[in-house]
This record gives sequence, structure tokens and C-alpha cells, in this order.
Amino acid sequence: MPVDSSLPSSQTICVTGAGGFIASWMVKLLLERGYTVKGTVRNPDDDAKNAHLKALEGANERLILCKADLLDRESLHEAIQGCDGVFHTASPVTDDPEQMVEPAVNGTKYVIDAAAAAGVRRVVFTSSIGAVTMDPNRGPDVVVDESCWSDLEFCKATKNWYCYGKAVAEKAAVKMAKEKGVDLVVVNPVLVMGPLLQPTVNASIVHILKYLTGSAKTYANSIQAYVDVRDVALAHILVYETPSAQGRYLCAESVLHRGDVVEILSKFFPEYPVPMKCSDEVKPRVKPYKFSNQRLRDIGLEFTPVKQSLYETVRSLQEKGHLPIPTQNHESLRIQS
Ligand SMILES: NC(=O)c1ccc[n+]([C@@H]2O[C@H](COP(=O)([O-])OP(=O)(O)OC[C@H]3O[C@@H](n4cnc5c(N)ncnc54)[C@H](OP(=O)(O)O)[C@@H]3O)[C@@H](O)[C@H]2O)c1
Repeated sequence: MPVDSSLPSSQTICVTGAGGFIASWMVKLLLERGYTVKGTVRNPDDDAKNAHLKALEGANERLILCKADLLDRESLHEAIQGCDGVFHTASPVTDDPEQMVEPAVNGTKYVIDAAAAAGVRRVVFTSSIGAVTMDPNRGPDVVVDESCWSDLEFCKATKNWYCYGKAVAEKAAVKMAKEKGVDLVVVNPVLVMGPLLQPTVNASIVHILKYLTGSAKTYANSIQAYVDVRDVALAHILVYETPSAQGRYLCAESVLHRGDVVEILSKFFPEYPVPMKCSDEVKPRVKPYKFSNQRLRDIGLEFTPVKQSLYETVRSLQEKGHLPIPTQNHESLRIQS
């Protein structure tokens, strides 16, 4: 399905949590497409944290950074006022229930409320696979797609507060958008990797980094779905620009066992101390689940292959100084945590 090419590039999009891993790529791609971006950050005066955004092409002319916190309703109203669209991406990424649930859920409600007040064209909410797959009753042959929802009681019982917070926030967004007549589209990314624009290492990149620094001595007998950060950012833009887009969009490229991940990493980067031993050699190897990313492919997303994304993640970590450049001596690759 073609995107709406008649869209005026003079539109302004508010991106919440603009300095984060995924949001920084959204800002970059939006600026490249000619949009004006109002990016919310918690501290616009933190030059070290925001420098990568200010250095983006087009930022001087079309990027406005404004101060907003998810727990501060007024700040979100101010940021969203005058915008054509909102990409609501800011969220804590933690399993600490105190830090996670309230900002994720109430922040999302404030954003929908502010979007209704500002009469925006569309809100795109960054949810998560955590709102999709945490269901102990899903059969092994079920194809995971947008119809699947995590079981909130199961999330609570297993203390998966990140998944719980994202699922409750997504449900609240859908309910409130319906009540207030806001056009809401949801993107549900799986674990996101790929090149970093921001100076610090975010939680999903730690998942890869730990296999290269020597901090993980073994890998778990478990599976994980992966997608590239550039595809996640583009998915948000495509669902924004496609008039007929509605509902949820599962954003996933492949599901791998951890054993596959370490094998790919060790082949590309044999100099790093990548663990080759599974922590559980008793139980059978966990099998990947089947999934569908058809909805995003139907609106034009071509996914970056997982091997390429893993390779570029590591190269980016090296370039940003988070990983030493390989030498022959493995000991020199063990960085202090
Ligand atoms: N990375 C993944 O694998 C993945 C997968 C699925 C979904 N997601 C979702 O994608 C979004 C972005 O994640 P990310 O990986 O890019 O994480 P990230 O780099 O940690 O970015 C999170 C952003 O949210 C902001 N934020 C957190 N708490 C806030 C608060 N109380 N008020 C205002 N801003 C706040 C952070 O601001 P500060 O920089 O000031 O802390 C940061 O800009 C999140 O909604 C996450 O749930 C991520």
C-alpha cells in the first residue's frame, strides 16, 4: 500500500523522550523527510545528553527541544500544543514497579488527553512485544500477531513489571483515544538493536553488549525476537503517513535462540570473549515461536536482516567507545562493568 505522498512536509511531530535510543532515530528520519520535530526531553540544558540530536541534519532549522516529564501533565500539554502528530515513545524501561507503572500509564493518558486538546491528526504509541506475548496459555503452534495480548495477572505473578506497565499503558491509550476521538495507531517492537545515535547504552543494547565484554559467562536456554532500530523508527513514520493504518503493528524481524545470537556474534567478532556454553544443558533447547510481521510489510516496511543488525550494533558500540577495538588478546577485551 503506498504512503500518502501528498503529505505536507511542513507538519510538526512531537516525539516524546526524543533523546532515547529509538526516539533519536525517529527524530533523525523525520528531519530527513522534512518534518519539524518538537522533541521532549527531561532537561533541554543537558548539552552532553542532547548534543547528538542538535547535530542531526536539519536540527538547526527544524528541531525544537522542550522540557517534559511523563508525570507532569502540563508539560506534555505544552509540548503537544500546535503539533500535527505525536509519537509517544518516552517510557521507563525497567522491572522496578515503582519506577515503571505510574509514568508509563499516567504519562500515556496525559499524552492522549493533550493530543485530544490539541486536535492532532494521529498519535503513534510505542508499545512493546511485552504487551503481546506474556501469555502462559498460548499454544506452541500459535502464530504471534497483533491479536495476541499479554495476560496481566501472569505479568504480575512473574514480576514482569515492564511488560505489565506497557500492556496497561497500551490498553489505557486505546480506551482513552476511543473516548476522546483521537486517531491512535500502536507499534509493538520486539527487542530493538542496531546503531546508536545517543551517547549512552540503553537496556536493549546491554542485552547484546554483555555477550562481548566477558560479563556473561554462559547464555540462557531461551528465545528472543529482534528488530533493527531504524526499522522501528520507520515503522512509526509509515503508520503515521498511511491514512488507512489502524490498530496494532507487530514490529519483528526474527526470533532467535540465544545460542544463535552468540554463534552469529562469535563468527563476526571472534576476538571477543563470546560465551559458547548454555547455562542449561539439561532441558531441551527452547524453540522459537512463529510470528507475523505482515501488517508492517503490507505498508511498505522492508526489515533489516538480523545478522546485519547484530553486526552494525557491535560496530556502533566500537565506534562510540563502549567496546574496545579487537586485539589478539582476549583479556584486553574484558571491560570493567
Ligand atoms: N529497546 C527495545 O528493545 C524496546 C522494545 C519494545 C518497546 N520499546 C519501547 O520503546 C520506547 C523507547 O525505548 P528505548 O529502547 O529507546 O529506551 P531508552 O533509550 O531508555 O529511551 C527511553 C526514553 O524515555 C524517557 N523517559 C523515561 N522516563 C521518563 C519520564 N518519567 N519522563 C519523561 N521521559 C522519560 C527517557 O528519558 P531520559 O533520557 O531522560 O531518561 C528516554 O528518552 C519505550 O516506550 C520502550 O518501552 C523498546
